Amino acid sequence: MISGKTEVVSLIGDPVEHSFSPMIQNAAFKEIGLDYVYVAFRVKKEALPGAIEGIKSLELKGINITMPHKSKIIDHLDKIDPSAKKIGAVNTVKREGRNLIGFNTDGRGAIGALKSKNVEIEGRNILLLGAGGAGRAIAFTLVEKNANLTISNRHLSKAKNLITEIKEKTGEKAEQIPQKKEDITKKIRNCDILINSTSVGMAPERGKTLIESDMMHSNLKVMDIVYNPIKTLLLKEAEKAGAKTIDGLEMLVHQGAESFRIWTGKKAPVEAMKNTAKKIIGG
Ligand code: ATR
Repeated sequence: MISGKTEVVSLIGDPVEHSFSPMIQNAAFKEIGLDYVYVAFRVKKEALPGAIEGIKSLELKGINITMPHKSKIIDHLDKIDPSAKKIGAVNTVKREGRNLIGFNTDGRGAIGALKSKNVEIEGRNILLLGAGGAGRAIAFTLVEKNANLTISNRHLSKAKNLITEIKEKTGEKAEQIPQKKEDITKKIRNCDILINSTSVGMAPERGKTLIESDMMHSNLKVMDIVYNPIKTLLLKEAEKAGAKTIDGLEMLVHQGAESFRIWTGKKAPVEAMKNTAKKIIGG
């Protein structure tokens, strides 16, 4: 029951009404009996400074941040986790007194998803499709885990810039290849893991995939960060090729679990979160 003692965590962004985080996080609080509640607030771009003051004054326990504030919020933080700083985006904030501390849980969410399926990362050859917000976070985290990373993005310059940034900020090397069938097919032959961080395949455009079964092999592990539908066309094609698959629900839940741990200091009930997400998405 919500009482005078209930701790509040919130999501801020615009839009926020389609987010699954309130349901997933509230299910997690309930599962382990924490007196917390998670609510979503629509905060327009220009309203961010006021919202930040509000978070401090109302003494919220923490927040999630989504579009359009993920980069801009950095200017309002008192501390930032080194890996979120490199990524240049924050999706989780913890309040300690009047200090706000920023983190990015997307990369760790991807690692958590792979690890939960016993997929090794260190020293593995990984092809990452996409260099958008989520792709950046995943790329930085993978190179720091000593993966051999190749990035392929529709607009080549974005992948090139990301590789330069990775080199400057981490000293690690990554390569990039054009998003063309022949380049990708050749690359995948020597890859252990393929990750789709683009929005291709997301409902309502369920019939789309950047990679088909004839471009994959049975030793490949294929992870999609698209979670609606849960079984994307990419994952169906991967199954056809005999590859192991990790769906977007894993990434969604593991990045949420990481935020949960940051706010509460407790290990998140990942299975309960996953079951809730499954019920909402309907798979
Ligand atoms: P997110 O924060 O979810 O990563 P984003 O920053 O808008 O979203 O990034 C979307 C990613 O999907 C980008 O890598 C984008 O490629 P471009 O940078 O070339 O735009 C990729 N993407 C979206 N639609 C695509 C399509 N039809 N084909 C290939 N890539 C696509």
